[in-house]
Amino acid sequence: MDIKELDREYIADTYSRADVLFVEGKGSYLYDEQGREYIDLGSGIAVNIFGAADDVWVNAVTRQLSKLQHASNLYYTEPQALLAKELCERTGMKKVFFGNSGAEANEAAIKAARKYSTDRHNGETGHNTIITLKNSFHGRTVTTLSATGQDVFHKDFTPFTGGFVYAGPNDTESVKKLIDENDCCAVMMELVQGEGGVVALDRQFVMDVAALCEDNGLLLIIDEVQTGNGRTGELYCYMNYGITPDIVTTAKGFGGGLPVGCVMLGEKVKSTFTKSSHGSTFGGNPVCAAGALSVIKRIDDELLRGVRKRSEYIINTLSGAKGVVSVSGLGLMLGIEPERPAKEVAEECIKRGVVCLTAKNKVRLLPALNVPFDALEKAVGILSEVLAG
Ligand SMILES: Cc1ncc(COP(=O)(O)O)c(C=O)c1O
Repeated sequence: MDIKELDREYIADTYSRADVLFVEGKGSYLYDEQGREYIDLGSGIAVNIFGAADDVWVNAVTRQLSKLQHASNLYYTEPQALLAKELCERTGMKKVFFGNSGAEANEAAIKAARKYSTDRHNGETGHNTIITLKNSFHGRTVTTLSATGQDVFHKDFTPFTGGFVYAGPNDTESVKKLIDENDCCAVMMELVQGEGGVVALDRQFVMDVAALCEDNGLLLIIDEVQTGNGRTGELYCYMNYGITPDIVTTAKGFGGGLPVGCVMLGEKVKSTFTKSSHGSTFGGNPVCAAGALSVIKRIDDELLRGVRKRSEYIINTLSGAKGVVSVSGLGLMLGIEPERPAKEVAEECIKRGVVCLTAKNKVRLLPALNVPFDALEKAVGILSEVLAG
């Protein structure tokens, strides 16, 4: 049976798949059906935070799987409560709502911001515009596509959810202007625009936006779906910027490989969601929550130091290297702008046994946070050769 043929025949044609069939993995190594080895610098797009089939994570998940796989949110379950406690204690946020993906986490954040605004205005609706940034990416549901500040996503599926306006990244004046011109309730942004080309926002801009939110009674929502969970060298990326968001969303690496996301609610919005105002069948499922709890517990100072060390190594090796225009990003969320087309570089790398991703005109690196140094050196060596052409 030719699996690639079956896939092409029976699966909706939404993905441009690389010509590789992965069958297993261990840590930062993946293997295809012929047993060929690859060094993974993509982690399934920032998901396999400790690599493939990590023993600690597998144990946490399988222990829970063999006890109780699901109960529904009509009942209490231990992993969900322990995970929420861990998140709140580590971030200072006050309450958590669990969903299944990044887009759902952002949907929940948008709902929370709009309900908070309606509650504040004694039930009067209309004060609900959310400012997001151009070049952002917030998901693929109809509402999170609306939130995404890229025209290319705003076609084919009309009508989109209204109430989003788009400011320029690092353009404080455009944020001010939108606040003046609209009846806003929140600003929502990624601190490193991942799908938009791995571009970190300027610290001053982020601090200015936080101050504008405070002065104008707007909520600050930070989308940490990709940047979160140790990826940028802090537990959450906002911790690099010296700000305190009102709402933080995350997913991807949070579950270590299982579908779970969450929205964390700060002091102002901790009581916004009331009974039946939001819900999810699978959200915070015990197996996913047990996996996420084991992930979050392992993101300690030592691991984060290791993330920063690996990041420095990649930046120092590739900055100014032959065929490299620039290196951007934070921690282990890095974008390499090659002289050659990024797609060509990624394709050649995979032929040479190195998995990397692309984002816009960049080669995007999102390795496991504990990628072994010898594997990293070997993969970056191959990538350098491919970049040099
Ligand atoms: C910043 C950001 N937000 C939201 C999403 C959507 O996440 P999901 O695909 O889990 O719905 C992504 C996915 O790439 C993302 O990078």
